[in-house]
Amino acid sequence: MFMLKLFFALLLLNGCRGYVSEKPPFHVNPNMDTQQKGKSYRESQFFADGKIMQEPIAGTIAFGNLKEDSHFYQGKINGQVALSLPKNLVIHEAFIQRGKQVYNSKCSSCHSAIGDGSGLVGKRLMVKPTSFHSDYMYMQPPGHFFDVITNGIRTMQPYGFMLNEHDRWTVVAYIRVLQISQDLEGAWINGSAKQWKQQ
Ligand code: HEC
Repeated sequence: MFMLKLFFALLLLNGCRGYVSEKPPFHVNPNMDTQQKGKSYRESQFFADGKIMQEPIAGTIAFGNLKEDSHFYQGKINGQVALSLPKNLVIHEAFIQRGKQVYNSKCSSCHSAIGDGSGLVGKRLMVKPTSFHSDYMYMQPPGHFFDVITNGIRTMQPYGFMLNEHDRWTVVAYIRVLQISQDLEGAWINGSAKQWKQQ
């Protein structure tokens, strides 16, 4: 019995001496550690094009990504800039507060907190950010603002990739809030209101 124990002890010691070996490690219990499987970028005989990674079938739309409502997702109705906010939005205080939060973090550095274009970054640009307080801006419909945020305009970069559609609409509504806040006499409100009618 003693000899047997000694034998195993020596065997263990032997195993720990740090020999370098070219052979793969001895695997006492392989379970399912190594098995045939497809790994990314490997070749495959299974598919006709010989690739293991397959592209989605053309026209596939991921669940929840249909984006059928062009008014909400593109700010357009029949290809025309929408003159109203999408109907599925409920404009309440939290909606406007969200717009304020997003505007202050993403836009105010250039357009300033009141939207006159005198933000700290904006001031230093060659082409100054457009003020939201002009007849031209008052007459722009919601869909135009949505489009500017989504795709940018001239020298202004797009923000569509970092703001989801809902957040973009909150900013559109908040720009309107800023416009009203800077002209409480509101002579222009009647004139531009037709651009914000419900559709
Ligand atoms: C890095 C600075 C910068 C930031 C940030 C920025 N803008 Fe601008 N924006 C500009 C400049 C510059 C222009 C004028 C572009 C020109 O005329 O070439 C402009 C123009 C605009 C216009 C006028 C478009 C028109 O009809 O002429 C709107 C509306 C606008 N920005 C909205 C936004 C909103 C909303 C955000 C935040 C999501 C934002 N901008 C963020 C720099 C910025």
